[in-house]
Amino acid sequence: MDLKDKNRILITAALPYANGRLHIGHVAGAYLPADEASRFFRLKGKETHLICGSDENGAPITFSAMREGVSPQDIVDRYHRSIRDALAGMGVNFDIYSRTHTPRHAQVTQDFFLRLYERGHIVKHTGEQVYCTVCRSFLPDRYIEGVCHYPDCRSSGARGDQCEKCGRPIDATKLLEPVCMVCKTLGRESRGHIEVRPTDHWYFLLDGFSGQIREYLESHPEWRESVKRFSYGLLEQGLKERGITRDMDWGIPVPLPGGEGKVLYVWFDAPIGYITFTREYFESRGQPEAWKDFWEDPTAGLVHFIGKDNTVFHAVIFPAMLAAHGGFRLADAVVANEFLNLESDKISTSRNYAVWVDEYLAAFPADPLRYYLTAIAPESADADFSWKQFQQRNNSELADNLGNFIQRNLTFCRRYFAGKAPESEGPTPAGQVILDEIEAARREIADLLYDFRFKAALERLMRLSQRGNQYFAEEEPWKSRKSDPVLCARTMATGLRLVEALGVFMAPFMPTVAARLRDFLNLPPLAAGDWDAPSRLKGGHPLREPEVLFPKFDDAAIQPHIDRLADSPEK
Ligand code: MF3
Ligand code: ZN
Repeated sequence: MDLKDKNRILITAALPYANGRLHIGHVAGAYLPADEASRFFRLKGKETHLICGSDENGAPITFSAMREGVSPQDIVDRYHRSIRDALAGMGVNFDIYSRTHTPRHAQVTQDFFLRLYERGHIVKHTGEQVYCTVCRSFLPDRYIEGVCHYPDCRSSGARGDQCEKCGRPIDATKLLEPVCMVCKTLGRESRGHIEVRPTDHWYFLLDGFSGQIREYLESHPEWRESVKRFSYGLLEQGLKERGITRDMDWGIPVPLPGGEGKVLYVWFDAPIGYITFTREYFESRGQPEAWKDFWEDPTAGLVHFIGKDNTVFHAVIFPAMLAAHGGFRLADAVVANEFLNLESDKISTSRNYAVWVDEYLAAFPADPLRYYLTAIAPESADADFSWKQFQQRNNSELADNLGNFIQRNLTFCRRYFAGKAPESEGPTPAGQVILDEIEAARREIADLLYDFRFKAALERLMRLSQRGNQYFAEEEPWKSRKSDPVLCARTMATGLRLVEALGVFMAPFMPTVAARLRDFLNLPPLAAGDWDAPSRLKGGHPLREPEVLFPKFDDAAIQPHIDRLADSPEK
């Protein structure tokens, strides 16, 4: 069943690690598209819930804590707040933004683990793990780096659990030229004292799910090529059992004897966070059973938004976990974006080479960034953020095209129609063409958004706005105002209808501006189902005084941000 035909939809956005500030790469990757989709579905009248929270367990957190010389709890408390606030500032409107280092999530995850264990999908055995003799500890996940062991990749900087470059799962004992990242961080000699030692762990028998995962992928030919290619590629290489516990003390304890000193792998607990948070959310609304309507009932929609490095977990491993558990449905779509670069260079947290969301928001409003990140969305290839291009596209596309059209119409009506929507005897033939185009755009933008083609949907919106400017220029209402006031009223009534429609279609992308425009039009805030609502602008409807919706950004506003990047340390 198509998402189009579903009335209830649950959307998840990848849980960000609470170990650093949010930058534009995160926003463009998962959070912005997830928010745009959920706003669109609501406008389409679908009951929609957007679920997220911080990913607080695992090596990424303890490693950051070690580096900063503070406790893991300090790290997650600090960055949970910082990320939550940055996302809110970007207008990403979660129904719940929870966190995973909680007793509640531990309980849900442990129950999940035990059920898989009881059903025979998890086994314990002794396995080989990498161990640093200087640190006297095992080196889980990102505590070890080296050269990727896949012959067709061989890139450096591959971590103990996943290769950054090719995205495939790594067997840490096979990494070439392994480096202990603790020793490296502390300035010690970091090579030559890594051994492979035996240790007991629990393994998820992922290999038993190849057939089900293949069927799952085959039932979704409509998914993005990159997600399908990557997932089929993993199946071709053969799925293997996956270690799902770690020798660490930060995380969710293994709920079985012999599990002392070990915790569940963060990638085991984090996706289960989607379920925990859905439960928390509906419990807080007094509907403790309602989460099942989404996780057990396939007639509801379920969509995961992620960055591409999360593909293996969402398209292969988590679905296999859900299948192993039994009783759960699988997602209708896994929507993964490629990466966002910055001024033709890789965004790097450690080099402070990024546009941090909090810094951006201290200088500019959210919507122009939402616009630009959607306009360049890395949907099928990596994209590049450039400050100059951001400025230029804001000034020409938002200010001169969209903003200008809205402004011209509203000011004209204020001035020459006593601040009211014109009383008109119906559209002119040229106006009828515009009204038809509004309806075509309403359908086409919706179809693109149902396909998660945000960039194309936004382009379609901007084409409609351009048509508006053209219409205004061709009809010359400033002339007909004197020569033929009846004609002028007909022209302007249509122009205003277009302003109203643009205000609806832009709302998923630029919600703050859309809300202000509703206010200028003296219309109630957009509500569920309004995507297809008939115009509310009857002749004589009083309008409010409009203000500028899209200010231009001059060089002086942009330059400091370019200079800041030039200061970031060399690679
Ligand atoms: N924290 C991971 C990352 O930032 C994403 C986790 S997504 C979830 O890459 F499914 F595990 F929740
Ligand atoms: Zn070491």
